[in-house]
Amino acid sequence: MKGLILSGGKGTRLYPLTYTRAKQLIPVANKPVLFRVVEAIHDAGINEIGIVIGDTGPEIKETVGDGSRWGVGITYIPQEAPLGLAHAVKISRDFLGDERFVMFLGDNVIEGGISSLIKQFASSEWNSQIVLTEVPDPEHFGVAELNGDGQIKQLIEKPKQPPSNLALVGIYMFDHHIFEAVDAIKPSWRGELEITDAIQWLVTNQRKVFPYVHNGWWIDTGKPTDMLEANACVLEELTPYIAGEIDAVSVVDGRVTVETGAQIINSVIRGPAIVGENTRVENTYIGPFTSIYHDVVIKNSEIERCIVLEHSCIADVPLRIQDSLIGRHVTVKHSTRKPKTLKMNLGDHSRMWIP
Ligand code: G1P
Repeated sequence: MKGLILSGGKGTRLYPLTYTRAKQLIPVANKPVLFRVVEAIHDAGINEIGIVIGDTGPEIKETVGDGSRWGVGITYIPQEAPLGLAHAVKISRDFLGDERFVMFLGDNVIEGGISSLIKQFASSEWNSQIVLTEVPDPEHFGVAELNGDGQIKQLIEKPKQPPSNLALVGIYMFDHHIFEAVDAIKPSWRGELEITDAIQWLVTNQRKVFPYVHNGWWIDTGKPTDMLEANACVLEELTPYIAGEIDAVSVVDGRVTVETGAQIINSVIRGPAIVGENTRVENTYIGPFTSIYHDVVIKNSEIERCIVLEHSCIADVPLRIQDSLIGRHVTVKHSTRKPKTLKMNLGDHSRMWIP
């Protein structure tokens, strides 16, 4: 089997972070979401992966490289415009050939990986397998309606009146019959070739499409709240280790990872949490569900349920920072200078909440 990862898109809902970084490269639990996707596919025994790229292609290529760090071969497939998931399959035909493949959206995170599903599909006769999960807002997704026997009755992309609450998760498995389907369908109202329509075409044309209902968590990391949620979920799954230094007066609980070169000085860290390489945490409280990336300094502050990216500095902040996504090279500092005002230097589309 082969793997196909879709990694285009502008990530507008994550502005300003995505002005300067592809959304798939934002880390959860200190690892870019896209790396987690590559690892999930590799764990299922797949060594040939195609990555469909758009405007952020050069950055993705530079960061992911040729795949040798995971022992996989990576082929980049440029998509000239975001014309839909089924369009991405169409342009990947040369790479995929006649092999069965798994397609995975590069900004999706799913509990427990997908090894068993992929292995099951690899040795089956099915033409496609789709992953479904219950969501509270199915109108924002592709939605599946199942028959009484659990088989697919119909699939609809973003229905105004959803026939069920079973959303199509961004993980799909296909054999070569999908190429016939993507050639047969027409663009949707949003001008995209929808993979949901292509799978419906397979169902209509009596191909064997099997649904799998996933019961764990699954997060499509489109918005800042999704990133924080995914971060919390992945931190819960992580096996912690301590490679950095913790001084004798600090209190660090058992679910905390401290990466190489990190220093914890006179601080309290309650897990699950992760402190990245060469980060210094001093006179600080770090609460659960926090990921601090590499080369960060945090002193005399309190922070909980946050993601802080590399080379940022948080110092002497008098209020606890919570539920926040903080980018690269950011400074958040207390100032004693008069007048006592809020001073800001925020990028376009930044948001700040003041109590
Ligand atoms: C896409 C698919 C949709 C699926 C969703 C999963 O939606 O079209 O069927 O449920 O991914 O994240 P989009 O993100 O393009 O709106």
